Amino acid sequence: MKSIVDITDLNVDELQALIDTALDIIAHPEKYAHACEGKKLATLFFEPSTRTRMSFEAAMYELGGHVISMTDPATSSVSKGETVGDTVQVVSNYADIIAQRHPKDGAAYAAIRKARIPVINAGDGMHAHPTQTLADLLTIYREKGRFNGLTVGMCGDLKYGRTVHSLVGALSRYSDIRFVFISPEELKMPAYVTDTLDRQNLPYEVTTSLESAIGSLDILYMTRIQKERFDSPAEYERLKNSYILDMAKLSLARPDCSVLHPLPRVNEIAVEVDDDPRACYFKQVLNGKYMRMALILKLLDEAARDPKKTLLHSPEAAKGLRCRNPRCICSIETGIEHVFIEDDRQPGHFRCAYCEAETE
Ligand code: NCD
Repeated sequence: MKSIVDITDLNVDELQALIDTALDIIAHPEKYAHACEGKKLATLFFEPSTRTRMSFEAAMYELGGHVISMTDPATSSVSKGETVGDTVQVVSNYADIIAQRHPKDGAAYAAIRKARIPVINAGDGMHAHPTQTLADLLTIYREKGRFNGLTVGMCGDLKYGRTVHSLVGALSRYSDIRFVFISPEELKMPAYVTDTLDRQNLPYEVTTSLESAIGSLDILYMTRIQKERFDSPAEYERLKNSYILDMAKLSLARPDCSVLHPLPRVNEIAVEVDDDPRACYFKQVLNGKYMRMALILKLLDEAARDPKKTLLHSPEAAKGLRCRNPRCICSIETGIEHVFIEDDRQPGHFRCAYCEAETE
């Protein structure tokens, strides 16, 4: 039985198999209309979301399955102080698979350690958002027909934006990928993402200028400045208009550059761009539903064939270490066993198994 914390829990062959299933669903939806009959998806959303939750729910309905939902933690037992671990243990009795979104980093791994059914991370804090990456990958594949050899620009809030962290993890496994990270200095890509690229000797450029970078890109992935994750409202006000992609800037891009965005957009893409053939963000939404259908099918199938639970990381806890990330679920909920993974390329260096932050 497999669960998904981040996109790297799926290897490149598994990603291609999901893409192939999604393409088959698009071509022959009737073949899949009863595939999940009698199965229930529980959507546990501890953080506001409409589109990701609705995308999961639509996916399950289109597979002939049922959905039960926790949409508002304020009206659930979470408001009484229930932990993520307890919630998923309870829900494991009601459903066959869980999609969970949570505002704290590492909450997906906390759920997976306790759940008796597969869990899909639908976004945990600023850490990861693997099913958005599945939407992104299918969009890139349908637009470009390949992943190898692409120059991919990511622009906006690369610090707090979990979608770009997962997308780098996915694309870094293809060959000749070149990344261009475009952000204000204050919102640059976190070290745990760039460290992975450094360790693999993968090239990336860092710049603050969208105008200077845009002309070299095959893919431009725009992101929203993540207001809700700022400690200081004044800092958000100062940075909120850092990048606005309008037709004047898009005219500097290649004619075949594809513009992606996970949505919701605030003002970082002007509405005038929507009619340009390079704008792919609404197609991306539909692709996300198909990839979630493919993922639900895969995980339910694996759980039926092998109901034994496999933890993604063995709990070889390094004694005495504590996660130093104040946004990590380990730092917030009590009773969570702190678990660390030794960096295989840097012996003696440990990362929190929940949020991937380096330890002291
Ligand atoms: C993204 C998210 O939640 O991280 N949105 C989404 O999944 N539809 C991006 C964002 O909120 O900016």
